[in-house]
Amino acid sequence: MPGFLTEQNLMWRDRARTVAEKVVRPLAAKYDRLQEYPWEIKEAIAKAGLSGVWIPEEYGGSGGGVIDLCICVEELSRACGGVGVLYAVNALGTFPVLVGGTEEQKQRFLRPIAKGEKLISFGLSEKFAGSDAASLRATAVRDGDFYVLNGEKKWNTNGGAADIYTVFAVTDPASKSRRTSAIMVEKGTPGFRIGKIEDKMGIRCVPVVEIHFENCRVPAKNLLGEVPGMGFKHAMMTLDKARPGVAAQAVGLAQGALEYAMVYAGYREQFGAPISSFQMIQGMLADMATKVEAARNLVHVAALAVDRAEPSVSKLSAMCKLFATDTAMEVTTNAVQIFGGYGYMRDYPIEKYMRDAKITQIYEGTNQVQRMVVARALVKESLGLKHLLDFIPKEIQKGVNDPETLKRLAEETANALDVPTHNS
Ligand code: CAA
Repeated sequence: MPGFLTEQNLMWRDRARTVAEKVVRPLAAKYDRLQEYPWEIKEAIAKAGLSGVWIPEEYGGSGGGVIDLCICVEELSRACGGVGVLYAVNALGTFPVLVGGTEEQKQRFLRPIAKGEKLISFGLSEKFAGSDAASLRATAVRDGDFYVLNGEKKWNTNGGAADIYTVFAVTDPASKSRRTSAIMVEKGTPGFRIGKIEDKMGIRCVPVVEIHFENCRVPAKNLLGEVPGMGFKHAMMTLDKARPGVAAQAVGLAQGALEYAMVYAGYREQFGAPISSFQMIQGMLADMATKVEAARNLVHVAALAVDRAEPSVSKLSAMCKLFATDTAMEVTTNAVQIFGGYGYMRDYPIEKYMRDAKITQIYEGTNQVQRMVVARALVKESLGLKHLLDFIPKEIQKGVNDPETLKRLAEETANALDVPTHNS
């Protein structure tokens, strides 16, 4: 890693690396096979003081930034991508509270998470509302001092293991821009039920579930900010903060797979020599390492932009998620290639990296959505670059845009609208 990390960043990196190497790596294959929540790993993370790295000190956390969160996620993911997201998704669930909660809500919901006593899950997507996050159907209807929730949420990572759920639901179906709100629901509330538990290709140690609400009465004081209609904004601001975490998970996966490939290439002999002595393998390793380093640096730049609340946050956050996760898919696939037939086998550690990497291109906004976010930002930025038009030659074609034709077209338009032209 480059030398611009602070003492604090390096302290979190070392702590997370110790947990990753001592606890996570030896257990990664076991929980992948079992597809069970690794409570012993969660305890080790809490014991190392990592549970509230990104939560401000006034809410019981360690006061680190998204940069510190990303550094920890990378280290954990290097040993197991599932553990990386298990940790990162706890931050995802807290971000709506941080961006939109009242002081009382922040104290109430963030403290137990920072201490590692409670886990949180984020509930935005539904069966028919994925990329189109504004088209939710789950409802929260005000009834006195309560909101009554009905409907279903999909893809709740940490669901079942978590104690608190940040749930997005429709509070004003008639409104276009203030249609949804985020509401905090605690496990055990009557009418709240875990539905289908997904059987996944990767990140198998962390549960992904459906959540069902049937006349679930939640105190109105749990509505984030206690002002309805802010749900979509809170969700988008949350994703801006959280996407570098997915990108860091991808960097960790890519780094972990690269390291296995480097070691294996030095050990595996064919044609009387280690395969790392062959130029084609060397080229692959060099490209893999270069892309991982580029991805890591983009993640750090985006995370620092989040921490400094820079205006370019949405674009950078989407860019790092896009680049790092595409890199992870490419690097982990190439790592399997370097392992050859053994790489494809479940008793070798490398195919898990490829399976774990795939989801990073999909969740917290598909990479198609990230491209959309980046492209929209570029279109806006281009408006401030109009002076460059002066340096771009203009083609003129007679009958299309020559001065006489433009004058004639203006007159014809003015006549049709019955208004005077500049020339009349
Ligand atoms: N910050 C603040 N406000 C924002 C914003 C941002 N980054 N982006 C948009 N908004 C605001 C806009 O200003 C606009 O406000 P007004 O109505 O006041 O004008 C409003 O939100 C609507 O904006 P858009 O017109 O841009 O919205 P859109 O409907 O076109 O959607 C989108 C844009 C980028 C596609 C968005 O829907 C999106 O990000 N979709 C992907 C959702 C996603 O990532 N889901 C994953 C869920 S988490 C998960 O994967 C589960 C897990 O467990 C890991």
